[in-house]
Amino acid sequence: MLRAALQSNLDNEFGALTAFWSPRVVAVANGQHVKVAKVKGEFVWHAHADEDEFFLVRKGTLTIRYRDRPDVVLGEGDFHVVPKGVEHMPVAMDECWVVLVEPAATKHTGETVSAISKSIEEQMAHLR
Ligand code: NI
Repeated sequence: MLRAALQSNLDNEFGALTAFWSPRVVAVANGQHVKVAKVKGEFVWHAHADEDEFFLVRKGTLTIRYRDRPDVVLGEGDFHVVPKGVEHMPVAMDECWVVLVEPAATKHTGETVSAISKSIEEQMAHLR
């Protein structure tokens, strides 16, 4: 079982990111992954059938687009939970730093497979 560091610094972890939309697992607790990601532009429409998804913005502005309800705009320090089973698409006009908390099994593009999908192994590669 891979283990993330028990102590680190959030901005240092963001500093280790070199690509957009490529989440990095920075902590593991109780079957949940805490991830950091730098995002810019549009992600893909997707849903997570069985998992809620927690978003916290560290820097910049993130919009969560929904098909069946109003969009949610998150500024620095704002957080939001995307309910399980609800289709959504994160969008950032400019570079945005996001903290995510989700069960270890969650695929970041849901069941949607796209060129930007990263496997859990890729998201944890730095821990080996
Ligand atoms: Ni999602």
